[in-house]
Parts: sequence; C-alpha cells; structure tokens
Amino acid sequence: MALARHGATANGGVNRQALSAEEIAAWHEVIAWGREATLVPFTDPAGNLFLCAEGADRSAAPVLTGSHLDSQPTGGKFDGVYGVLAGIEALQAIRDAGLTLQRSVEVVAWMNEEGSRFAPGMMGSAAFAGALPLANFLNVRDADGISVRQALAGLHDEFADMPSRPLRRRLAAYVEAHIEQGPILEREGYQVGVVTGIQGKRTFRVSVKGMEAHAGTEPQGERRDALLAAVRMIHALDEAMRECGGDDVKFTVGRLVVTPNAPSVVPSGAVFSIDLRHVDSALLTSLGNRIPSICAAHAGECDVDVVELTTAMSLHFPERMTRLIRDTASALGIPSLDIFSAAGHDARFLHSVCPSGMIFVPCKAGISHNPQESVKPEDLAAGARVLTDVLVALANDSHPGRV
Ligand code: GLV
Ligand code: MN
Ligand code: MN
Repeated sequence: MALARHGATANGGVNRQALSAEEIAAWHEVIAWGREATLVPFTDPAGNLFLCAEGADRSAAPVLTGSHLDSQPTGGKFDGVYGVLAGIEALQAIRDAGLTLQRSVEVVAWMNEEGSRFAPGMMGSAAFAGALPLANFLNVRDADGISVRQALAGLHDEFADMPSRPLRRRLAAYVEAHIEQGPILEREGYQVGVVTGIQGKRTFRVSVKGMEAHAGTEPQGERRDALLAAVRMIHALDEAMRECGGDDVKFTVGRLVVTPNAPSVVPSGAVFSIDLRHVDSALLTSLGNRIPSICAAHAGECDVDVVELTTAMSLHFPERMTRLIRDTASALGIPSLDIFSAAGHDARFLHSVCPSGMIFVPCKAGISHNPQESVKPEDLAAGARVLTDVLVALANDSHPGRV
C-alpha cells in the first residue's frame, strides 16, 4: 500500500512507468526498506535494482528472487510489486530467524517488465540474461521521444552513489513470486500455485502509412486513409486468429496511435500493437507468421510495415524447481496447485540461464492490469512463507541445478 502511493491514480490503481520519476521514487522506498533489512543495494547497466543478503560463501553463485516495480498505465498495486516485497520480507525473516545462508540471496526489481512506456517489455531481464544485447533497446523511444538510453542515464544519475555490477552474472537459481493474474487459484481454493511454465507470446508493431488530406474536399476514391486500412487489418487479423487458433488463442490490439489525429484530416498514419499468445508454440508460430500477409492484403492504397518485437515460445520450468516449491508448500501445510502461467514474466529469460521457478498467489476474480487488482494479505503471506523456505533451501544447496 505504501509503494502504491508512487504513481497512484485517482481510481485506486497505479501508473508507474519504467524509469519514470514515480519508479525512481519507488526505488528510493524499496532501497530504504532493503537497508532496514541490512540488504546491500546495487544496480547494473540495464537499470535493474538488486538488494543483496551476503552469504557465507562469497565465491558461490547467488540465488535471485524478485519481479518488477513498473506498471501498466491502468495497473494495480500488486503486479510485480508482490515479488519484490515478498523477497525483502523473506530475507528479513531469514535474518530475524538467525539462519545462515551459504550463497548470497539477492532481491531484484527488473527494468521495464511491462513494455508499456518502452516496447517490448522485459528489457532488464532480457539484457541481464544475455538473451538480447542491451544495445538493442537503447534507442527505443517513449511517446514523448525520450529514449531508453536517456531514461537509463537519468536513473543512474539519481543513484550515482550506488555500485554497478555487470550483466550476465552467474546465478545458482531464480524464483519469482507473483499474483496469478487469472481466476484459477481463487476458484479452486488454493493459496499457492506452483507455476509449471509460461505461455508463449509474440508481439508486433504495425505501421500503416497513407496521406493527409482535407476531409471535405478529398474525393473518397482517391484517399489513402491509414486509419481505415488499420481497421480493416485488425478486423481481418482478429477473424483469422480466432478461426485458426481456436478458443485458446489470445489476440489483443491494445494500442492504436493515429496521425495527425485531427477530426478534419484524413489520417496519414496509424500505428498499432499486436499481442498474440498461445500455449501451443507451433500454432503460435504459424499464427504469427500469417500477420504480415494479412496486413498487406488489407492495406489498400496505403503502405504497411510489420515489425516483430518479441518472439517467446511456451516454456516449462525444470521439474527440480517445481518439485522444490511444491514440497516446500506441503511441508508448511499450505496446499498448492500446479498451474501454467498465461501471463508473461521475467522468469522467462532467467529460465535460459539458471534453474528457475515461480510461486503464484491468488488475486480477486483474476483481475489484473486493472486498478481493481486486489489480494488477500493472508494469501500474500502464504506465498512469502513458501518463498522464504525455498530461498533457504536453494541458498544452502551446493548444486541447485541438479535434477
Ligand atoms: C506481463 O505483464 C504480460 O503482459 O504478460
Ligand atoms: Mn508482472
Ligand atoms: Mn503486468
């Protein structure tokens, strides 16, 4: 609730964009809470924040936990935030209990998970894991023309005293706690979900170019109306994705930017986003591959350019990690349910560099990316208890990757 003051919206939600003044204020607060728990803060070139509890064996690869502090423009209080705060809470509990950790455990807040201000999302975790070079993201600009490079410089200036460590550091394991963002745990009556994997996702930016003209004088037959072309494309895409993808396809056009966006000017530009998801990677591949030709077929007199921003297939976390989380919950007397994540998470990129897993807790009616996002404190506590014991087990395991 305290963190939700940073970027609070009038309707009870949060608008805390990546690398914004609101996120910087949230960093200050989280760092202060981390310091109270004797955690040592540092950052990296990608603008990720780390809070470290030093282990007894400084040469051992650390265990990482956390999530993100940025939000959608109409975000809730818990998406991402829960994983960061649960990590701090866990380390505080471990310290209060007087437990020794062999490996260091770090809490991370990844840069730009949401991809709302700067697309695509998960830039921080992708750069950290080496899935994509940071350089690929630096020239991405927000709606005001500010680049990731500039915004990162602002962040690092603000925290100039904080040490920076390199990207692609060696890790022993990664565990991310998160609200489910779907209805299953609440409906089935479980406090904890053992996340078995993450649904695949492809995102695209479609730019349609026409020509500005006078709305009163330009003959209908001679117009190159970019908005009408975009609407035809979106309609055709929606039909094709449903027809071929069945009930399980998720096709979203969440952003449409019209130029010049004036009532009496025929639109010369329309840029829209596509977020396409399906659990079946082969189907996701074939559906996504159809997008450029469907757009081209409905461009009419306009030009169209389709750029793919994210290509992420469905993945399954290693059995060793899901078993550890499930057994830990069971030992605590907290019944858990195996669950596949329909939402995307930074754990996707960590999965490629170290044994990774996720712990879900229920949220009310599965509502998320919405100011109404709501949770029960006792469910958050249950998830944090599981996280705590999982972190202790991983930090004291000499081979967390062993199957
Ligand atoms: C993450 O926020 C997602 O869009 O799945
Ligand atoms: Mn999230
Ligand atoms: Mn989100």
